[in-house]
Amino acid sequence: MDKASIHGMWSSRLAFILAATGSAVGLGNIWRFPYLASDNGGGAFVLVYLACILFVGVPILVAEILLGRRGRMSPVNSIIRIAADSGASRAWSSIGWIGMLAGVLILSFYSVVAGWTLYYAWLYFAQLFGGAGIADAGATFGALLGDAGELTFWHAIFMVLTVGVVALGVEKGLERAVKFLMPALLLMLLALLGYSFTTGHVGEAAAFLFVPDFSKIDGGVMMAAMGQAFFSLSLGMCAMMTYGAYLPKDVSIPRVGVTVALADTGVALLAGLAIFPIVIEFLGAPTGGGPGLIFTSLPSAFNQMGAIFGLLFFALLSIAAWTSSISLLEPATAFIVERTSITRKVAACGMALLTWIVGLVSVLSFNHWSHIRPFGLSLMDNIELLANDFLLPLGGLLIAVFVGWFVSRKALRDQLPDVSDGVFTAWTVVMRFVAPILVGVGLVRGVMAKFGM
Ligand code: PHE
Repeated sequence: MDKASIHGMWSSRLAFILAATGSAVGLGNIWRFPYLASDNGGGAFVLVYLACILFVGVPILVAEILLGRRGRMSPVNSIIRIAADSGASRAWSSIGWIGMLAGVLILSFYSVVAGWTLYYAWLYFAQLFGGAGIADAGATFGALLGDAGELTFWHAIFMVLTVGVVALGVEKGLERAVKFLMPALLLMLLALLGYSFTTGHVGEAAAFLFVPDFSKIDGGVMMAAMGQAFFSLSLGMCAMMTYGAYLPKDVSIPRVGVTVALADTGVALLAGLAIFPIVIEFLGAPTGGGPGLIFTSLPSAFNQMGAIFGLLFFALLSIAAWTSSISLLEPATAFIVERTSITRKVAACGMALLTWIVGLVSVLSFNHWSHIRPFGLSLMDNIELLANDFLLPLGGLLIAVFVGWFVSRKALRDQLPDVSDGVFTAWTVVMRFVAPILVGVGLVRGVMAKFGM
């Protein structure tokens, strides 16, 4: 079964690590993680989050890459192959369908938020040439959200960037780009961290992030932390499975999996440590920032550091979002190419257009439709909640059950030749019991919390 993928292959182990890290590290780490921690009690949230990464995230990451490499096709078709091989039902391919649905929903709002970062980068760029810049961050952000046209424009630009790479195929643009962009992002975060130290709030920020108040852990926090773990590692929607399909045979899956998870978690924690001191300095308290957190707090720091830092930060964040968004579009594109005679370019454009249209709901949720609030949340928050906190864990749960109970041991062992019997057994136990139970309990408690049960 181990042919190359018809879509192309990563040229090396490093290329995969960069692409997968590029997928994992994105808005989730620098925009979403800090504001979720801010809204969900800090340390309590971070603790549950780290537990989810360790006990559920890494094992499922390994499972996803493995399924991809074993199937060598888009998720739906890979799973059909593997299921047939192991005598399991074809219905397991619904994992791939859920993944594509989640991909469209996530990319729809992801692109809108990435549009904000593009807009901010543009404002700082213009400032270097005499533009006004961002004097009052709250007002700038408010005005942006109120302007459906502006939001739609930047959402469109970002979607065009995304489709541009996916249409070209993964190896060309992507491999080369991530190689120096990811290190550049890291340097930028370190510069921000350096600035944060000058605020004198690093201790406070660290305490907020790392000292858990256990009384704060409830169903809502559990669901948010688990959803974020899946979101940040790009799990549960088959993005990593798709990237795994292009992974050369001789690469160790556990090793690349752990590397990607460490890089992703490291960036999130570093971002928290860099951003919260600034939040405390300029917004007064670490809590209650909401989705606007970095867009309203960081500009105050950039006013002191210089517009060039603002430009670099938001440009790099846009790029980090870009290397993630392509992995959101790739699974459905690969699927269409396999199932139809449509070319990759047309398939990618079609999916991007569809997703862009869905994204208009998120755009309008900040202005013309801001009065529509199902479950007390904006439309964008509802889409985010449905996709991140529900569909991703559900996808992850199904992947674990499928791998744990239905795929033949031999098929699994074949893909993991380098692990000891003990580690292999431990991993299968996680797939069979630990992950399904933890994710299942998290899902049920989260849904109950949502509906006030
Ligand atoms: N992991 C990405 C981030 O943190 C988002 C993402 C989710 C990408 C799911 C692909 C699949 O920004």
